[in-house]
Amino acid sequence: MKEYDFAIIGSGIAGLSFALKAARHGSVAVITKRKGADTNTAWAQGGIACVTSDEDSFELHVRDTLEAGARLCDEAVVRTIVTEGPERIRELAALGVQFDQREVSGHRELDLGKEGGHSKRRVLHVQDATGQEIEERLLRELAKQPNVALWENHMAVDLITAAKLGFATEDRCLGVYVLDEKTDKVETVRSDRTVLATGGCGKVYLYTTNPDIATGDGVAMAWRAGVEISNMEFVQFHPTCLFHAEAKSFLISEAVRGEGGILRNHRGEDFMRRYDSRGSLAPRDIVARAIDAEIKRSGARCVFLDITHKPPEFIRERFPHIYQTCLRFGIDMLKQAIPVVPAAHYQCGGIKTDVNGATTLPGLYAIGEVACTGMHGANRLASNSLLEGLVVAHRAAAAAVQTRPARKPKIPLPEWRSGNVQDVDELVVIYHNWDEIRRLMWDYVGIVRTDKRLQRASARLRNLQREIREFYWNFKVSIDLLELRNLAAVAALIVDSALCRKESRGLHYTLDHPETNDREFKRDTLLSRG
Ligand code: SIN
Repeated sequence: MKEYDFAIIGSGIAGLSFALKAARHGSVAVITKRKGADTNTAWAQGGIACVTSDEDSFELHVRDTLEAGARLCDEAVVRTIVTEGPERIRELAALGVQFDQREVSGHRELDLGKEGGHSKRRVLHVQDATGQEIEERLLRELAKQPNVALWENHMAVDLITAAKLGFATEDRCLGVYVLDEKTDKVETVRSDRTVLATGGCGKVYLYTTNPDIATGDGVAMAWRAGVEISNMEFVQFHPTCLFHAEAKSFLISEAVRGEGGILRNHRGEDFMRRYDSRGSLAPRDIVARAIDAEIKRSGARCVFLDITHKPPEFIRERFPHIYQTCLRFGIDMLKQAIPVVPAAHYQCGGIKTDVNGATTLPGLYAIGEVACTGMHGANRLASNSLLEGLVVAHRAAAAAVQTRPARKPKIPLPEWRSGNVQDVDELVVIYHNWDEIRRLMWDYVGIVRTDKRLQRASARLRNLQREIREFYWNFKVSIDLLELRNLAAVAALIVDSALCRKESRGLHYTLDHPETNDREFKRDTLLSRG
């Protein structure tokens, strides 16, 4: 058994920020499924929304966030995160993150991007690869910390809780079981403070902008540990994922529309004007639904994002990563519109926490996309997520270092045991179920929903979960099997939450209840296993 003061699962912006702060107070393990940089953060293109200009104000950023969130944000949480943002940005700059600047009347100032739903330019960015730059800087800093062990290629299997060991009256998180992919052994990690920073669950859908690691592991583990889960019906679909047979999950940043990119249908029409007066830069839920409607109406397979009217040197300088990637797929965005489709992008719900990352289970924190703090409500404002990850990680670290449990004899932690362990002989079962979940979520639980499709998805998922449970207890655990089990759990949580909400609001749109019903549903959806 290994013991750490802080065990952090996940190595994106939230996990690494927490680790760097906690390392001043004790030993830290950062446990991550693949390489340190294999995170959603590293794929973030747009940037970090933060008030830094004289033309902007906290009040405006709060207002834009609340408006996007469709009356479901927690205003106090939004205010805290927005107002504490600039201090956290200064810390990132001190670590060497150089946000882009531009020359204005003889002096240099931050080059602020604009994205849908923002009334001002306020998105700090490093060209179009902001997340990658932040991830690299944080990992570089982490490597200097003598107190931190980075466990790459290790996947958390399940949380260890007092209740699971028979101490139900004083439940708390005691640590986590972790699978070492190299040795195939499950290790026991004891920690008084365990932090879930595992990111989102885009892989639950057939089409996603997320990397392969985004399999909802944190939410699934928390759910199995009896922790409260909130608002899982609000899955954000990004309107513009590159449509190309060989491009897997490549995002075309909303910043392209922020700089004047126009969405056109297969006839070349600027169709967004028919759906919203803000046109191509309307909030994401509106744009994704409009594209879905346009594609269904016309039978076309995609729509097009056109920025060819901008000077070539501007496009190459502002979007070098997107430009080069599109070129690799034979699309020259200087001369032709980019084919795009919506794809699952961000989980607005998650493990219910306060603004300090505390969950309903003592000793367990959740930060970043895996958590539902109340910041995003029913629809996240673009580029608010890196900001939330940074601010809440800071607050969670400050809270966690203060909350060491009283010294008492420690509950002994049993070693991992899985029933009747054999090597899996038929991997095809795992891949088949994985594909089936992703296809059924895309077809039945996508951008536009109905009660009937949700019920179908629910029934099918219950069967799949039963099959996976059987498989799980009979065979040796592997990353593929653990991910499948987590995907199925998270898919079921999304469907159950969507079935509870008999209205349309933000990202949850259902043809059976197309109106927003504040009287009954202006509240969070809360699910817990108990
Ligand atoms: C983007 O660049 O469009 C993504 C930004 C975000 O999802 O916040």
